[in-house]
Amino acid sequence: MAPDVAAVGQEFFSISLDQLKPDSVPGFDLYLRHAGGEPVLYRAANMPFTEEVRRRLIESGVHELYVPGDQAEQFRRYQRETGQDEDLAAIPAVSHEEAQLGDILADRSLPLEQRCDTLLGVSHAVVQAAFADLGSPGLPERVHRVAEETARFLLAEPEAYATLVGRLRIDYETYAHSMHTALYVTELVRSLGMADPGEIAAIGRAALLHDVGKAEISPELLHKQGRLTDLEWAEVMSHTERGVTMLREAGWDDPVCLDVCMNHHERCDGSGYPHGLTCDQLALPVRAVAIADAFDSLTSRRGNTPALSGFQALWKMKREMQGQFDSDLLDRFIQVMVEPASH
Ligand SMILES: [Fe+2]
Repeated sequence: MAPDVAAVGQEFFSISLDQLKPDSVPGFDLYLRHAGGEPVLYRAANMPFTEEVRRRLIESGVHELYVPGDQAEQFRRYQRETGQDEDLAAIPAVSHEEAQLGDILADRSLPLEQRCDTLLGVSHAVVQAAFADLGSPGLPERVHRVAEETARFLLAEPEAYATLVGRLRIDYETYAHSMHTALYVTELVRSLGMADPGEIAAIGRAALLHDVGKAEISPELLHKQGRLTDLEWAEVMSHTERGVTMLREAGWDDPVCLDVCMNHHERCDGSGYPHGLTCDQLALPVRAVAIADAFDSLTSRRGNTPALSGFQALWKMKREMQGQFDSDLLDRFIQVMVEPASH
């Protein structure tokens, strides 16, 4: 059953009343938002939308309704079915939360948990948009903005990091993984003394996109249980080079993004891929993302593989995977994770 109040941080896009045709049956939920509040469920999916409903809304001064971001496909289908194909470009790709992200994060009258959920929700939506179409208009700015707002937030309120980490899900899913990796690496480089949000954001942005090549790998293979054949492994490993090709084709020429995308599975001892590079050949953003990426993978539940606790994951990276990561950076990351906000 749909909740009557949307989860804080859930993404919505707004639609105008004109986009709802009288005597149609929208296959998506419709929410109302009262001044500044969270959207509240108004009509569940598949309830007929009539002229009478429309009139009542207009009389109440409502000209806009909200649709959950994960029902965008149902909304597009409805537009096609009601002959509104030409309005497709009108779907606002940027939610209210995303547009106001900086202001929301800086608003200390809002509970910290709520601001953290908003940031996580927006990051997730932006990564999802990037995986759907790297060439979509405005995407570079959106990715950069969410990375920069994350940096600004953590610079202004270091204690937010522990709250953010505490609210991450442990189920592995590529969008969430990208966002988690970006959060970890943002805090890691901040803890190194980086204070320029733009400089930190360049690394966070690269982390948000590091696995974008997985958009071209079949989900069945990415989530396959059990052992992969050599051929399947080769296919999975190709996500690094595919990602770089995709970024270039979409006009992304940012060297940090390209470097991180290509090299985040390289390991300091030369055991990584695709080229078996060693630590001295890997730039700081690559070495930092490699640590954040590995940590999130280990602490996430993947199919039948249970998630390790943060302590177990750090221990494994420090002991069993010795030599794979930049040891000074790994020590710093351990400090960041063990003593958030006091390192
Ligand atoms: Fe990867």
